[in-house]
Amino acid sequence: MNRDISLLDKTFTPYLSSESIRNRIHALATQLNADYKGESVVFIGVLNGAFMFASDLMKGLDLNLEISFVKVSSYSGTQSSGIVKELIGLNNSINDKHVIVLEDIVDTGRTADKLFELLHEKTPRSIEMCTLLFKPNAFEGKMVPKYVGFKIPNKFVVGFGLDYDEVGRNLNEIYQLKE
Ligand code: IMP
Repeated sequence: MNRDISLLDKTFTPYLSSESIRNRIHALATQLNADYKGESVVFIGVLNGAFMFASDLMKGLDLNLEISFVKVSSYSGTQSSGIVKELIGLNNSINDKHVIVLEDIVDTGRTADKLFELLHEKTPRSIEMCTLLFKPNAFEGKMVPKYVGFKIPNKFVVGFGLDYDEVGRNLNEIYQLKE
């Protein structure tokens, strides 16, 4: 049966089933429960893409935790320095706390590197990254994600929080661009 879908002008084909995603998220939660046993942790979900991953991961965690969501906005500065990035929405204090950043996908790693830089200024005790998807072949960053759901090839994917031009985030499985 052909289960391809159309989003805007493109066709996508099923890639990671909802069951395999659920299983991997459960495994990540088990690993985090063991690694942070007895510790207080602040989870920081990066919007928009991480909302679904963060929600499912939370249900499997048995830790003393806080969760907050942030956006990393880009805007053109008034000076010639070009694109400036800033962190919006972090009201929790992370001073001297363990922080785990939740991302939908780490591609080039540029967003992750910038986030780490901005979060470091707030003097956390530790920072790690937990991402549902990681494209190692596209990665050129410094901060290698420690917790990874799936390593995937360098192809565009959509669903389970990830968008194609803002559509497709609601899909319950992950689809790959059909070429
Ligand atoms: P970075 O290249 O690691 O900085 O990733 C930047 C952002 O690009 C991610 O947070 C995603 O929002 C988006 N992105 C990268 N690869 C994909 C993809 O395959 N599908 C949907 N969004 C993606």
